[in-house]
Amino acid sequence: MDNEVKNRIYSLRNELNYHNRLYYINNSPSISDIEYDRMMHELLELENQYPEYYDQYSPTQRVGNDHNEGFAQVTHERPMLSLSNTYSIDEVADFIKRAYKELGDSEEVKIVGELKYDGTSISLQYENGRLVRAVTRGDGVRGDDVTRNVMTIKSIPLVLPKGNYPYKFEVRGEILMPWTSFEELNKERAYNEEPLFANPRNAAAGSIKMQNSQEVAHRKLDAYIYYFLGDNLPYDNHYDNLKAIKEWGFKVSPHISLLNTVEEVREFINVWDIKRKELPVATDGLVFKINSLRQQEILGNTSKSPRWGVAYKFQAERAETRLKYVSFETGRMGVITPVANLEPVLLSGTIVKRASLHNDDIIKSLDIHEGDSLYVEKGGEIIPKIVGVNKTLRIKGSMPVQFVTHCQECGTELERIEGEAAWTCPNKNYCPPQIKGKIEHFVGRKMMNIDGIGEELVDRLYSVEMVRNVADLYDLTMERLLTLDRLKEKSAMRILKGIEESKQVSYRRVVYALSIPNVGETMAKILANASVNIDRLMSMTVEELSSINEIGPIIAKNVVEFFEQASNIAIIERLRIAGVKLALDESEQISKTDVLSGKTIVISGVFKNHSREEYKAMIENNGGKNSGSISAKTAFILAGENMGPSKLEKAKQLSVPIINEEEFIAMLEKVTS
Ligand code: IVH
Repeated sequence: MDNEVKNRIYSLRNELNYHNRLYYINNSPSISDIEYDRMMHELLELENQYPEYYDQYSPTQRVGNDHNEGFAQVTHERPMLSLSNTYSIDEVADFIKRAYKELGDSEEVKIVGELKYDGTSISLQYENGRLVRAVTRGDGVRGDDVTRNVMTIKSIPLVLPKGNYPYKFEVRGEILMPWTSFEELNKERAYNEEPLFANPRNAAAGSIKMQNSQEVAHRKLDAYIYYFLGDNLPYDNHYDNLKAIKEWGFKVSPHISLLNTVEEVREFINVWDIKRKELPVATDGLVFKINSLRQQEILGNTSKSPRWGVAYKFQAERAETRLKYVSFETGRMGVITPVANLEPVLLSGTIVKRASLHNDDIIKSLDIHEGDSLYVEKGGEIIPKIVGVNKTLRIKGSMPVQFVTHCQECGTELERIEGEAAWTCPNKNYCPPQIKGKIEHFVGRKMMNIDGIGEELVDRLYSVEMVRNVADLYDLTMERLLTLDRLKEKSAMRILKGIEESKQVSYRRVVYALSIPNVGETMAKILANASVNIDRLMSMTVEELSSINEIGPIIAKNVVEFFEQASNIAIIERLRIAGVKLALDESEQISKTDVLSGKTIVISGVFKNHSREEYKAMIENNGGKNSGSISAKTAFILAGENMGPSKLEKAKQLSVPIINEEEFIAMLEKVTS
């Protein structure tokens, strides 16, 4: 029986790895998503049931974990150099001619033309066909070990299928965020009024350095490998080596060309200057490399970059246009965004009329005056960005653009967010776009999912003063709705049904729906899981909140401040009366037994598997009591790493047992399984 299970697990892993390669690397899936999910599900079930077959390289492990480990610094075996850049085709031609000259007339020189992917570079080390380490470039000499995060990127193979690769080798490549993922991410961030990523490069670099690999797994990153290095390479030239690693299962760009002459190089540039706009990922130029490794060695390196390669950078497309005025727009969270309203101008095929100026610091650093002539670029082709001012066209005597001092919507004096460049309108409960924005958020699909209420209806409900906060929604009746112009009984019924159904929405989504500053979908889930119910969440201190994995001091402070406001408490009390779920259902809780009944337990140290808050909730859910200090009554100490020495001493004195995380979890699992 055991052998059967083992074989099934291994064969599912092999099959999933194979289909993963077809899907993420070769872009040619041979089975449906449903079939893939079914196999993944079966494997997950088996691995849960038979934990002895756990393997960190299993395809199920690509989802990441929420351990907060920081990154270890690793020294690169060979430094990660960068390439010298040029914006001119003639300089690329000069580079090649110089190489010809240095290598001598008798040498045949071939050049490999590649795309210069615009992400963040990564070094991947493999041993025995398994990814053992992934390290960022860092300063070129030392980088961060981001293996856990990189393991979530599906186009990076964790285990190679059988092949004739060396036992130990290193490849390098670029981690990218495809345009579609980038736009999706920024849309979500804009919605949450979080600072946007300027381009996919920043988004990729930021993502790979996140503490929570589960979050990284959601970021939908991709990667191309462009460099195979080491002493024991299969071929004597770069082009064939790339082909070899492609065979082994790596994702290598399909747009690599072997070029024979300077003319062919020029042609390659002309073609890709246009064609790159159709690619699903950002590129910022092209790379040319001397193909022969022997010739590469002859040419050598400078301290910063190799003499066998050069990067040709694309010129960003730029337009110039007049600033009509700057509008200062108030968002749902009260953050003010300055927006440049421009004379319409054509840029990379679209008409640009507006461009975000982000914050006051940017207006000041660009030194924008009223009526200035501005340079607009498409930051990575999609989002227009103001990059400078043509000062020769400045109107004499024009004044610098001043950030407003008062909210343009409600007239309240603005406040600066501590430590940030953003200004906000503090009139949270009465500023129209803030109230309407919060109601729209509350009814949204991922929150309370109240069908039939959209932006327009929120506007109407607000203007007739029928709904001025989210709790008012639960006082709507057919009679009151029908007093609205043009609203028919059928729509009203749909709205009331949606409101009624929202009472079944989980506590996790309710926490998200409340519009607590900086609390997006993931944070809301973490807060809901750790608190179990809203009363506990409302009473948690900044320290307690910050001890939850992934909850930083800023979010902790926001949560505490949110629940300090009487108006928010009043809303929650009304939601409670209406019957909205303000606690996790039993089935959503980690587990609930009375196995710890009558036991007082002290928690100490740093934990790996769950946060301290989660352990507190587990103790309470299983009938135990959590206490801060050790006494003769303490049943046991749940100890993580680095338990305080005085606690350790006291535990010994009183002979209080100390148990670790795994033992504690096993204790609860025994009774629930
Ligand atoms: S080769 C010795 N090839 O551009 C440098 N780099 O400044 C070897 N990049 O750090 C790099 N696409 O992050 C190479 N096809 C490509 C590339 C590429 C993007 C990045 C890489 C590197 C930087 C060069």
